[in-house]
Amino acid sequence: MSTATTTVRVVVLASGFGSNLQAIIDAVKAHQLTAELVAVISDRSDAYALTRARAENIKTIHIDPKQYPSREAFDCALGNILDQLACDLIVLAGFMRILSAALVNRFPERIMNIHPSLLPRHKGLHTHQRVLQAKDEFHGATVHFVTPELDDGPMILQKKFKVSLSDTITTLEQRVHQCEHEIYPQAIQMFADGALSKTVQG
Ligand code: GRF
Repeated sequence: MSTATTTVRVVVLASGFGSNLQAIIDAVKAHQLTAELVAVISDRSDAYALTRARAENIKTIHIDPKQYPSREAFDCALGNILDQLACDLIVLAGFMRILSAALVNRFPERIMNIHPSLLPRHKGLHTHQRVLQAKDEFHGATVHFVTPELDDGPMILQKKFKVSLSDTITTLEQRVHQCEHEIYPQAIQMFADGALSKTVQG
């Protein structure tokens, strides 16, 4: 892979609030990230992430799972949209659907996800609650490439913090979000810089 920095064409997939999308938008606007946000795609028409994208004149696409007879059909249609957008990188930012192996394999090493835990610890949901229950000393966020196995792909960046005795699910969520907003734009910039060689990816 070349080490020259390029402007990377990014499509963000989001289902909800979109604070990570906002962090990426802000990093582009602050010239901290050499990316072009080509589109934001959501499986939910009411996702606030879509509102954020519209406010920045970024193309928005709603793809409704109810319009497709199966998960495979939905993923096939989503893959076709992503192909048409000719993006370099697909960024999952709170996209609440598990991508099928067929879709993931269409875009090898071109889909990133951010997960609210220090992977490989706490794959899946309810990570803050599980950190408190397990009395973990540290918590944080992980950016990784997406592979067909859930929350399992090669790690790109991680940021951690010490859990304090006064932390609750709410404070952990806030603290993890702070980590996420820092490392997601950085991870995308690493991709743009050609810094994610196969050896780094693991
Ligand atoms: C983040 O905590 C991310 O780790 C998880 O979903 C959440 C999305 O938050 N995958 P937001 O919609 O970006 O605010």
